[in-house]
Amino acid sequence: MSDLLTQLETLQHEAQSALTTTQTREESEAWYRDYLGRQGKMTAVLRGLGQLSKEERPMVGQAANVIKNVLETALQERQALLEQEEITRTLSAEGIDVTLPGRAQQVGKLHPTTVAMHEMIDILVQMGFQVYDAPEVETDDYNFGLLNFLPGHPAREMQDTFFTTTPDVILRTHTSPGQIHAMREFAPEPIRVILPGKCWRNEDVTARSEMMFYQVEGLAVGHNITFSDLKGVLLNFANKMYGEGRRIRFRKSYFPFTEPSVEVDVDCIFCNSKGCRICKYQGWLELLGAGMVHPTVLKNGGYDPAIFSGFAFGMGIERQAMQKRTIDDIRYFYENDARFLERVS
Ligand code: FA5
Repeated sequence: MSDLLTQLETLQHEAQSALTTTQTREESEAWYRDYLGRQGKMTAVLRGLGQLSKEERPMVGQAANVIKNVLETALQERQALLEQEEITRTLSAEGIDVTLPGRAQQVGKLHPTTVAMHEMIDILVQMGFQVYDAPEVETDDYNFGLLNFLPGHPAREMQDTFFTTTPDVILRTHTSPGQIHAMREFAPEPIRVILPGKCWRNEDVTARSEMMFYQVEGLAVGHNITFSDLKGVLLNFANKMYGEGRRIRFRKSYFPFTEPSVEVDVDCIFCNSKGCRICKYQGWLELLGAGMVHPTVLKNGGYDPAIFSGFAFGMGIERQAMQKRTIDDIRYFYENDARFLERVS
């Protein structure tokens, strides 16, 4: 009996020291199988019970149970410890230092041209105009001929053109060719459309002029449309765009596709027409070009000029954004300098 008890005691010591070397839950489970499992070392020792007398057996059995309980408790403690260590390891590996300053998120913004374009479109849509998408690549005919530019007419040179390698195909120099597309699609129904988009001119790039810029075109064709309607629309537009109480003025001008033609200004929002650096001491800011649609253009669009009349206007988006936000050089718009884009949008 004493031999068995010694074996059990030795087993307990061996098991306890082996347990301290386990590093994972799996290892601790393997340890359990090794020492206390059905095929384990404890079972092997207890096989010797058969050789003992009836009286000795329960004593050894009891001693074995005590050792088993001690070892099971030790296992639970070991597993709890391993688990705690695992948590501590994970926390320190994935830990967040809340005292570090945060990293600023870069938030995308709309381009200043897009912001200004949306603003103009919103105002005009509220007045009943619908957005019409017209091509940016045009034929010479749509850009000039159908708009009543005569071949060789000096007005054609007002807009130096980018040609493509395909004869007759050009980059549009203004949004006005969209007038013809819209009229041809809807004639003889009355229309009220706006055409926003890119234009190109083969010009020297300066603080006021780019080779690529945006315009918004407006066109209304119907019965009894008069110059007063144009005036009302533009005055309302100026009030919505630059603030209530604005005044506009009309200067006589020339465009082949409108007759009469005008250039329209709005009183300077910065000095109330007194004269300042922004309005170049004129008291007025350039708003747009406009006029009554020329009978020939109505005809080219599919409307009978004896029955229909209309007005049209076209404005530069960047130039208006520049005035409104006091940007003094148009070249900033497309240089992609994030500092400018941040400041303006
Ligand atoms: C026209 O383009 C006419 N199609 C406008 C029009 C439409 C008149 C309908 C009558 C009826 P103009 O060339 O003036 O007109 O250009 C109109 C506006 O586009 C200018 O007032 C200006 O704001 C803008 N613009 C013209 N050229 C440039 C350029 N190179 N860079 C930036 N903006 C420009």
